[in-house]
Amino acid sequence: MHNLNQFIAPALAALCLAGCGAGSSSLTPAQSRALTPADPDLAALYTASCKACHTVPASRAPMTGSARAWGVRMNKGMDRLLENTISGYKGMPPMGLCSDCSESDLRDLISFMATPPQPADS
Ligand code: HEC
Repeated sequence: MHNLNQFIAPALAALCLAGCGAGSSSLTPAQSRALTPADPDLAALYTASCKACHTVPASRAPMTGSARAWGVRMNKGMDRLLENTISGYKGMPPMGLCSDCSESDLRDLISFMATPPQPADS
């Protein structure tokens, strides 16, 4: 009977390996900074504007790749987030300081930032 723990502990550890990764609160600023949109044009816009705040916890902006930070934002719906980005929202300046961004760029940038990194293949 006491042997049961021998089986349960490794099972729990394995669950955590699969489920306690980047999607949880453990995303570090370095991990957040390492994320870049795959599209080069979008990446340029992102690097020149959003990234300056959205990978820096002290800015209080929801961190790129943090499912926890973005979950509550995404619940507002993309249309609302887009409006708030265009007109500015609390600590965020209008357009997220990206005067070259089109509406569809902003949508893509928001989706990108709200997507947690995929687990590294190893
Ligand atoms: C100067 C810093 C700064 C820049 C640059 C910036 N943001 Fe933000 N952003 C913030 C802060 C701070 C918040 C959190 C505001 C709050 O809820 O207090 C935020 C929040 C957001 C939100 C959530 C709004 C909501 O309704 O909850 C979205 C979406 C967003 N930013 C998109 C962007 C995009 C897209 C870019 C680049 C084009 C960008 N931001 C650039 C600082 C910035």
